[in-house]
Amino acid sequence: HDAHPLVRDILARHAGRPGALLPILHDVQDALGWIPEPAVPQIAAALQRSRAEVHGVISFYGHFRTTPPARTQLEVCRAESCQACGGNALYEHARARVAAGDPGEVSLAPVYCLGLCAQSPAVMIDGRPHARVTPEKLDALLAAARE
Ligand code: FES
Repeated sequence: HDAHPLVRDILARHAGRPGALLPILHDVQDALGWIPEPAVPQIAAALQRSRAEVHGVISFYGHFRTTPPARTQLEVCRAESCQACGGNALYEHARARVAAGDPGEVSLAPVYCLGLCAQSPAVMIDGRPHARVTPEKLDALLAAARE
């Protein structure tokens, strides 16, 4: 099969550096958002390592993703001030919504204070903070993020 052109470029940049496995994996993930399976033999061949070695390194570091990230990244604040202002119900709402949707659509992660405590509860969608979020507002924000 064809080598992934971005991976090929990254390998070319690191050519001749036998210890470059980790920097290569970081570069691939930065460029693509994850490490697709076909990149593994490509990287292994370039570094004269086995595929098993490359897989071993990928699975050892929790940082590396082997599945593509969801299209929208939702983080809901779980810290005290937000919890006191409806943050728990908001998190439950978000969880049910994400579970009901397509797995590639929205990912949900907790965060612990976004610095918006005075306007709790707060969420972050694709790196942008939103304050005073109700379940209805969250639905609207997620719908807008999809466009
Ligand atoms: Fe949620 Fe600070 S506690 S923003």
